[in-house]
Amino acid sequence: MDKRKIILDCDPGHDDAIAIMLAAKSGLLELLGISVVAGNQTVEKTVRNALNVCQYLKLDVPVYQGCKQPMIREKQMVAGDIHGESGMDGPVFEPLVKTAEKKHGVQFIIDTLLGSEGDITVVTTGPMTNLAMAMRLCPEIISKIEEVVLMGGCYQLGNVTPAAEFNIIVDADAAHVVFTSGCKITMVGLDVTRKVLCYPEIVERMGKQDNAAARLFVDLMKFFNKSQKEVYGWEGGPLHDPVTIAYLIDPSVLTIKEMYTEIDIRSEQSYGRTNCDFFHYSGKEPNSRVAVDIDVEKFWDIIEDGIRQYSQGG
Ligand code: BDR
Ligand code: CA
Repeated sequence: MDKRKIILDCDPGHDDAIAIMLAAKSGLLELLGISVVAGNQTVEKTVRNALNVCQYLKLDVPVYQGCKQPMIREKQMVAGDIHGESGMDGPVFEPLVKTAEKKHGVQFIIDTLLGSEGDITVVTTGPMTNLAMAMRLCPEIISKIEEVVLMGGCYQLGNVTPAAEFNIIVDADAAHVVFTSGCKITMVGLDVTRKVLCYPEIVERMGKQDNAAARLFVDLMKFFNKSQKEVYGWEGGPLHDPVTIAYLIDPSVLTIKEMYTEIDIRSEQSYGRTNCDFFHYSGKEPNSRVAVDIDVEKFWDIIEDGIRQYSQGG
């Protein structure tokens, strides 16, 4: 079976790192490249984190630096309270040798999609600035995208404000561009990612494997769980970003409902909200497939299997 081709656009970030880990060694996915955006920290830091993860896991995947700031908003939000000063506090890495490619992340997305046969899925696990900029610079890419799978948004409660989730509020204009593009969009929001809480038992289970991925998982989650407890009071942090990859590996892990989704880019209180028309009040044609439930056991099995790939030298 042909592997499904993906571009991973991310802002590592503890959970982004695990998304990279899962995507890079899956026998079902071909990770064409990683583009990086400002989000959990400044882009210089998130690129460094992506390179560190690739170097540590010995992944031969190109990493491209993308946008440093949102499309329109002046203010760059970061999530130092959750991900620390570096954007990925916790693990200690060897001196960094791997370098980012010269090409800009947005140009990488454009060139890769233009040169494709319409068989590439774009996964975003950070603010959607790079993808939206690529769509505005070169609208021809839109028809080339097989599917956009994003971690972001929620039809219930946000995590930055009661209304908004981090990846969307950081650059709501970018999300608006993507959601109005006409692409097939699968939204993996907090509604499901908050169900995969990485409790200490899970950290222990994953840590039982004796390989580099398991060690990285444990080091990342120890820090992540501590900050999630401080900020939200949870004993285990939600492993948001890898849900996108788990879904591509086994779509049956998610229950999906089609909805019309509009990004709030105007109001003050609810700026960045993904207004998902769950009950189809508006009568508008759905423009998104929104995850409404997750098979939690299946998800952790996928993560465990993903870590196992690193013991198999393949
Ligand atoms: C999202 O925000 C980031 O902090 C995480 O990496 C994830 O992509 C969750 O709201
Ligand atoms: Ca992220």
